[in-house]
Amino acid sequence: MRICILGATGLVGRELIPLIHRAWPGAELALFASRARAFELDGQRYAVRAAPDLESGDAPRGELAFVALDDAHSARYVPRLLELGYRVVDKSNTFRLDPAVPLVVAGVNDALVTDEARLVANPNCTTIPLMLTIAPIVRRRPLETLAVASYQAISGAGIGTLDEFLDASRAGYTSEDRDQLRLGAGFDPAGYAANTVPHSGKTDDSGYSSEERKLMHESRKILARAALPVSAQCCRVAVAVGHYEQVWLTVGGEDDLSPGAIEAVLGDPAQSAFLRLLPGAAGDGLSALATLQHRDEVLVGRIRRDLRDPRGRSFCLTVTADNLRLGAATNAVRIASRWFAAADLALQGPGSSV
Ligand SMILES: NC(=O)c1ccc[n+]([C@@H]2O[C@H](COP(=O)([O-])OP(=O)(O)OC[C@H]3O[C@@H](n4cnc5c(N)ncnc54)[C@H](OP(=O)(O)O)[C@@H]3O)[C@@H](O)[C@H]2O)c1
Repeated sequence: MRICILGATGLVGRELIPLIHRAWPGAELALFASRARAFELDGQRYAVRAAPDLESGDAPRGELAFVALDDAHSARYVPRLLELGYRVVDKSNTFRLDPAVPLVVAGVNDALVTDEARLVANPNCTTIPLMLTIAPIVRRRPLETLAVASYQAISGAGIGTLDEFLDASRAGYTSEDRDQLRLGAGFDPAGYAANTVPHSGKTDDSGYSSEERKLMHESRKILARAALPVSAQCCRVAVAVGHYEQVWLTVGGEDDLSPGAIEAVLGDPAQSAFLRLLPGAAGDGLSALATLQHRDEVLVGRIRRDLRDPRGRSFCLTVTADNLRLGAATNAVRIASRWFAAADLALQGPGSSV
């Protein structure tokens, strides 16, 4: 089997390479980026080809392609990959809301990855962990409302932004004296290093940024609830990897529900795929960096009542996940495992429905 990665040198592309070796050992890798070069990862050297080679008459045909490019380049290369016979998992925003393209979270709605589907969209890195948490609950109770506040890592913005953040972070505090009141004044107040800033790109007339709209619209599509009342507020925090989300939800039904009953659902692997529950309201062990020890699962905890709801049907909880793995590469591999079974069972999509 030949497997292509477009954007192989980027943050998500690099995560895909070892996962592909685990899922389909022996598969031939064809790597593409903006230009041809050799590239080293985990001590192994790979040849990278220029993506425009795919547009030539003798472009390699193959079975499976992962596209980890920005929106404009996905729009350019995905149709060509389909023409060349590849089944495609695209990680950009380009096709996510296209009614003809399934938008899939493995463990939530990966039954949509049928033989007929040739192109599947991978949701945003905040939507994937949120849906893995919400789906087991909504399979038992109808969801009335959903609200999310995200605290997102810098690596979500790609390798260039991450490198700038690391450089500015290294430089920033070394020149600071903690006894001075303006600690942090040496950093750019609009930059990411040492900072919390709105995730405000492409804010439109609705007042919501594109990141916030992705969370809202993708959740509606995945849960098949076009009119679901959902709201999101997103910001970036000075963390390299690991998105963190605070969630408020209200469920329907006549009787009230206890936090313990929700923990029972989320703590049961038969009902809650790829999810690690950290029980108790205090959130012991729940942090963005803890996701680096559990890269292919969502960590969920702090399940407690939302005291604004006297009916006892509203809850607060916290969700965190590695944005590069569970939020991107791992989900893409699990999607493709519905077409080509994975040798490593941890990477096999179970074929779930909501
Ligand atoms: N980072 C995340 O947490 C995350 C999570 C979920 C989804 N996504 C989505 O996944 C996609 C990739 O994100 P990323 O964070 O991996 O980005 P990234 O680190 O910035 O990497 C971008 C990749 O695109 C390639 N590229 C740039 N210009 C190109 C061109 N003209 N032709 C062909 N290839 C080109 C780059 O190759 P060169 O090295 O040659 O420049 C690099 O391999 C984006 O759509 C992003 O929104 C990202």
